[in-house]
Amino acid sequence: MTLIEKITTLKKEKNAVILAHYYQDKEIQDIADFVGDSLELSKRAAESTADIIVFSGVHFMAETAKLLNPSKTVVLPDVKAGCSLADSCPPKKFQEFINANPDHTVITYINCSAEIKAISDLVCTSSNAVKIIESVPKEKPIIFAPDKNLGKYLAQKTGRDLLLWDGSCIVHEAFSIEKLLELHKKHPDAVIIAHPESEAHILKTASYIGSTSGMISYVKEHPKNKFIVATEAGILHKMQQEAPNTILIPAPSKVDNTCACSECAYMRINTLQKLYDCLKNESPKIEIPSNIREKAVIPIQKMLTLSA
Ligand code: 13P
Ligand code: SF4
Repeated sequence: MTLIEKITTLKKEKNAVILAHYYQDKEIQDIADFVGDSLELSKRAAESTADIIVFSGVHFMAETAKLLNPSKTVVLPDVKAGCSLADSCPPKKFQEFINANPDHTVITYINCSAEIKAISDLVCTSSNAVKIIESVPKEKPIIFAPDKNLGKYLAQKTGRDLLLWDGSCIVHEAFSIEKLLELHKKHPDAVIIAHPESEAHILKTASYIGSTSGMISYVKEHPKNKFIVATEAGILHKMQQEAPNTILIPAPSKVDNTCACSECAYMRINTLQKLYDCLKNESPKIEIPSNIREKAVIPIQKMLTLSA
């Protein structure tokens, strides 16, 4: 049997479901039961009737699935699949930041650890962030963490004065504005689209800013057929499938043209072989101490209710 056949057979035997993010390798996306953005994946995890959830994405995503399904087995192909943004917000330091600003409502982007979620009032993703911020009364000051780029964008979009944590994503900060403008000169007919984790000067050039799913829908529905895409390059696989007659150009990164800077090294640490192994061995399992889980699940559930 091929590896793909082995995964499919084992998945049926174990009543498992494979959830994958758009930044996974295309072989993983093709074998997954569902591929989506962070919000859609959280919703799928919340609705799942499977006994085992194989989360092919990064650690905070699998952790969210476990928070919503404490009695189920949740496995991640490689436990080292972290996230630079989540790492940029250590719980102790963040607690001090909250303590120094006690009157603020704390909204955290889903790209953070369960410990951070446990000390947050609300969680959001890039596709529902505006809605979540607008659910907080206007007179209430807000802390937004950990992504400063997304935070700046949201402050502008909602007109709210957000107190930002200084975190960022290494992949979205690797795009070069000079090279992007040069590329656009060569392809003036291309529409620039960007993920809001990108820096402000990149976002300024974009005709559309949104989550990974939002970007795919935009390309699919747009009358033009050429796009420069500023987000992790894994998205191009699904985007091309959804919009087959479209020319997709990845946004260039700051370093040389040979580097895979627009690939998230954390996401790409997962492989088809590791996916099979984690399903077979039911390991590495995501475990969250119950005192953290009980607190961390509250802002996630609030988010799901607000974005239903
Ligand atoms: P989305 O929620 O848009 O899929 O973003 C997830 C992510 O990690 C972006 O870097
Ligand atoms: Fe984290 Fe950036 Fe990778 Fe998304 S692309 S998982 S924010 S490091």
